[in-house]
Amino acid sequence: MSEGVPEDETSRECPNVRDLAETFKVLSDANRLRILFHLSTDTSGTLGVSDLAARVGISQPAVSQHLKQLKSDGLVEAERVGFHVNFTLNRSRMVQIAEQFEQVRSTVFSRCNQQLVREKIAEGPLNIAIVYYSYSGITRGLMEKIHEICGGDLVEIHTLKKYRSFTAFTTGCLRSRSEEIDPITPDIIDVSGYDLLVIATPVWAWKPAPAANSLIAGLSGCAGKKAIICTTYSSNPGHCLPLLKKNLESKGAIVVGEAAYSRRETEDPHHIMEMIRMIVGAYQA
Ligand SMILES: Cc1cc2nc3c(=O)[nH]c(=O)nc-3n(C[C@H](O)[C@H](O)[C@H](O)COP(=O)(O)O)c2cc1C
Repeated sequence: MSEGVPEDETSRECPNVRDLAETFKVLSDANRLRILFHLSTDTSGTLGVSDLAARVGISQPAVSQHLKQLKSDGLVEAERVGFHVNFTLNRSRMVQIAEQFEQVRSTVFSRCNQQLVREKIAEGPLNIAIVYYSYSGITRGLMEKIHEICGGDLVEIHTLKKYRSFTAFTTGCLRSRSEEIDPITPDIIDVSGYDLLVIATPVWAWKPAPAANSLIAGLSGCAGKKAIICTTYSSNPGHCLPLLKKNLESKGAIVVGEAAYSRRETEDPHHIMEMIRMIVGAYQA
């Protein structure tokens, strides 16, 4: 964004766009990028103007000019030692730029997701039921993002008896391992009016949380319906997806897509886009 361009919603969503644009100007020169490369790869981590001039293959005054610009953006730091000035890469500034760029990238990506869906469902919103259980909010967060973009109905089920952290990892895991069900509300969900189901649960003890077993048991009118199953996990989803699939298929649903996301992946626009593509693809198939 150049000077004089009025503030718009970009400034609200990505407040660093101006700074980033200035940084890109500084980076838009092959010799300055070469200087950064040599500073980052040199084992001593510090180089003077004459070293850099020899490595990049340009004159010392030209190197000095480039260093001045890199320094003005905080990309390199200078330290005077006697008659010499040594330059080092400012690593924390590099991390900051990466984070600023990531913010812009993820915002644009999420808009692309919405555009993709808008184009594909120009006839109307998707007639889908997104039904999920979430204990600590990760699965909920992911399903809310999917719902925000795809539309449809979003239904969260709750256990009648709330788990505390201790009982979740003791009773809850035992129940999950023996594939039991927990009493839930709502206990019956009629999905006969939908064209596609999205069913999601966290992994508990490498299997679906017991509430997800109840969720599937309580689905009514799902015979012949296409379904996408999704699980969120921390390190190992184990048998969660195969069990979800088996349970849904025993109710007559046809599982057409599967996704397992770690907590970090649920925040990543690439994975959200992947899931949306899967949903839109299955919906239109
Ligand atoms: C009782 C319990 C058992 C869990 N067991 C597993 C497991 O076997 N494997 C795994 O990768 N994550 C396991 N997790 C982590 C959750 O699956 C993960 O954090 C998930 O994203 C949480 O989703 P939620 O916030 O929607 O409940 C467990 C979490 C809890 C509370």
